[in-house]
Amino acid sequence: MAHPLLHIANDKNLMESLAEEYGTPLYVYSAQRISENIQRFNNALQLSFNKYHLCYAVKANNNPNLVSYMKSQLPLLGGDCSSPGELCVVKQAGMSGEECIYSGNYESAEDLQSALSSNAWINLDDITSFDRLKRIGLPKRLSFRINPGFGKGTFSQVVTGGKDAKFGVPKEKIVEAYRTAAAEGIARFGLHCMTGSGVLEKAYFENMFNALLAAAREIEAAIQCSLEFISVGGGFGIPYKNEEPSLNIEKVMENLSTIFYQQYPDRAQAPSFWCEPGKFLVGDAGILLTKVTGLKEGYRNFIGLDAGMETLMRPGLYGAYHRIYKVGDVDAEHSQVVDITGRICENTDRLAVDRPFPKVGEGDLVGIMDVGAYGYAMAHQFNTRPRPAEVLLHENHSELIRKRETIEDIFQNCNV
Ligand code: LLP
Repeated sequence: MAHPLLHIANDKNLMESLAEEYGTPLYVYSAQRISENIQRFNNALQLSFNKYHLCYAVKANNNPNLVSYMKSQLPLLGGDCSSPGELCVVKQAGMSGEECIYSGNYESAEDLQSALSSNAWINLDDITSFDRLKRIGLPKRLSFRINPGFGKGTFSQVVTGGKDAKFGVPKEKIVEAYRTAAAEGIARFGLHCMTGSGVLEKAYFENMFNALLAAAREIEAAIQCSLEFISVGGGFGIPYKNEEPSLNIEKVMENLSTIFYQQYPDRAQAPSFWCEPGKFLVGDAGILLTKVTGLKEGYRNFIGLDAGMETLMRPGLYGAYHRIYKVGDVDAEHSQVVDITGRICENTDRLAVDRPFPKVGEGDLVGIMDVGAYGYAMAHQFNTRPRPAEVLLHENHSELIRKRETIEDIFQNCNV
């Protein structure tokens, strides 16, 4: 399927004026698309579950203005945080601690203290995390992240469940974790699972949910309590290629609810169903606008851009594929095969490899799609390249939501 923001990449006037006003490389987000994604996800939950709660995984894109905008589009939206910094973002976006969940791992005492003071629902990654938390103070409510022994994700690097994953309490130890917490007087519990990012297969969510619900029932029997929520985390994939299917989120939720209410037939008494997606809400809503800086015909042919692995890590880190278009001419004939690279002194600095692409010249604009999630959030300053600016496109105007970094910004904490 064609990309939902293809018309933006093809709007030469708009893109040229953005490049002129804010410079390149530039992260450009569509407010409308973010809103559509949130409404769609929320409706899918509403159609299938009596009680549910939707939290946005802030790690995907931490721009406080963008998170505030998301909150304005769905006033009940909460946040999923993994660090004190992300707790700070949700606060700025007007989310209360009670609406949020804190899912850390290998948390320091400072991390746990921040989570505790925020009043977010603390979701622990291990029993040893509970021991550390106990030394600081105990919350009234708690959950653990279970590792069900398997996982799935677009790349091996983003599989967060299973024997090789660093996350979660192994399923064999999960009951013990809850027993330990209950013995310390905690009485309100939830259960969480997140086994990988970018899953496009409906059936996988059902398999994972079955394992999760079996554990939930075991925990409830062991500690004689009713879980207040069961969370499947994020992991809802988006297509990064035209030929990839999109996830039918309405059907996913419908199928999960069938399984859920088989386990919990009394709908009024059933736990609340929680989700904390990142990619699904913001992934396809961002375009990285970048300029051609150099062309080389060598042993391979290269198009060099003013964006590289420091601007967008996913291709260099995972070999991730992102659709890339010549701005204003998205249907141009692919008359060459090139590697698309940045200006970084690393050979892994490739945004695309062996990519059929139209002829371009120095100064031409290029749009890299699906960078709304884990794009800017994972950008860095290698080779002393300041991070780009971010712009939110509204119906009739653009809003600068993060200024471009300067070289002085990079060194502001250095003693020179
Ligand atoms: N909840 C927890 C506890 C998580 O660890 C994550 C992502 C999410 C929710 C949101 O997952 P999502 O809906 O975005 O799949 N950098 C990688 C993705 C790593 C995901 C890590 N955890 C990428 O660019 O694909």
